[in-house]
Amino acid sequence: MSKQILILPGDGIGPEIVAEARKVLETVNEQFSLGLVLSEALVGGAAIDATGVPLPAETLDAAQKADAILLGAVGGPKWDTNPDFQIRPEKGLLGIRSNLQLFGNLRPAILYPQLAHASTLKPEVVSGLDILIVRELTGGIYFGQPRGYRTKEGGVREGFNTYVYDENEIRRIGRVAFEAARARNKKLCSVDKANVLEVTVLWREVMNELSAEYPDVELSHMYVDNAAMQLVRAPKQFDVMVTGNMFGDILSDAAAMLTGSIGMLPSASLDANNKGMYEPCHGSAPDIAGQGIANPLATILSAAMMLRYSLGEGAAADKIEAAVSQVLDQNLRTADIMSEGMVRVSTSEMGAAVVKALQA
Ligand code: NAI
Ligand code: MG
Repeated sequence: MSKQILILPGDGIGPEIVAEARKVLETVNEQFSLGLVLSEALVGGAAIDATGVPLPAETLDAAQKADAILLGAVGGPKWDTNPDFQIRPEKGLLGIRSNLQLFGNLRPAILYPQLAHASTLKPEVVSGLDILIVRELTGGIYFGQPRGYRTKEGGVREGFNTYVYDENEIRRIGRVAFEAARARNKKLCSVDKANVLEVTVLWREVMNELSAEYPDVELSHMYVDNAAMQLVRAPKQFDVMVTGNMFGDILSDAAAMLTGSIGMLPSASLDANNKGMYEPCHGSAPDIAGQGIANPLATILSAAMMLRYSLGEGAAADKIEAAVSQVLDQNLRTADIMSEGMVRVSTSEMGAAVVKALQA
């Protein structure tokens, strides 16, 4: 049976890195007879330029029909001056996330042994690091109502947001995390602030209830402030972490930086049926766009996650990840991960090296 894959190159380095991931997907498509049918559509600034809006109806329609989506990145200075938030590139991404209900954000932070020097932490603290942060993406304080900014009587300004989760929202992200933990090392740490926030008292209750369904997974709880400390002090104590939207936003960026290399980190955003959008953690890097020097590996690894989580093609995913490790073993490096004695390659040379490793 054929599977529809929608590719959204986006802006800046997006088209360059996505082109390499596409070659990799085409290679495994043939090798494993996956039946993937790849098509492309406009999103973000590219869509604004062509159609006036960041998420054309045609793109949303294609996203809804697709089995999985691979995105480059959106945004750039060209569109930043637009005062209307509705026609900013980011709105394209948020529109897909909310329309498709992509509430489960998976952010792995993996330190490749070949890139151990890239971390700012001591090698003994981070070597072998391989953690997965599961972040709730469509609820919590970023979306809670009421929200606003106003001037009160007497001229005092105030801003307010509402932090709310219901048990169903917590349960569905909890299941994503327990399933991920089950598929890995059966260890899950739930992060909350249950000593201060009622929302997270409920969060902790629901995680404990779910735990009964996953007796093989060891569940622990940690307050978010301690989790931030522990991530920097001894990150290898964690395997899978699950948390709400805001805590996850902050902790996943911190965890990503433990590895030191933004060009290497993929992500997934999943719905209740494991349909998802896959994208690198980094942005559109306008400072290096068009120069052919961007690292395509985060996008290539995002394609691997897509095969694993949305398409049930774990063997093809494993093979891509092994090929990425092989090109690093061959000392090939794009500028962002370059170090002394290594061989510097361009975006397309890196993509070609991964394809060659797949074919070897
Ligand atoms: P960024 O991640 O685009 O860039 C940060 C730094 O990392 C830059 O120096 C860039 O050159 C470098 N970098 C990023 N990806 C790289 C890669 N693959 N290879 C080599 N170097 C890489 O973040 P920044 O500069 O804050 O944002 C730039 C634009 O991207 C903004 O318009 C922002 O809104 C957008 N953005 C989009 C995201 C998305 O589409 N999901 C996420 C984050 C930012
Ligand atoms: Mg963030």
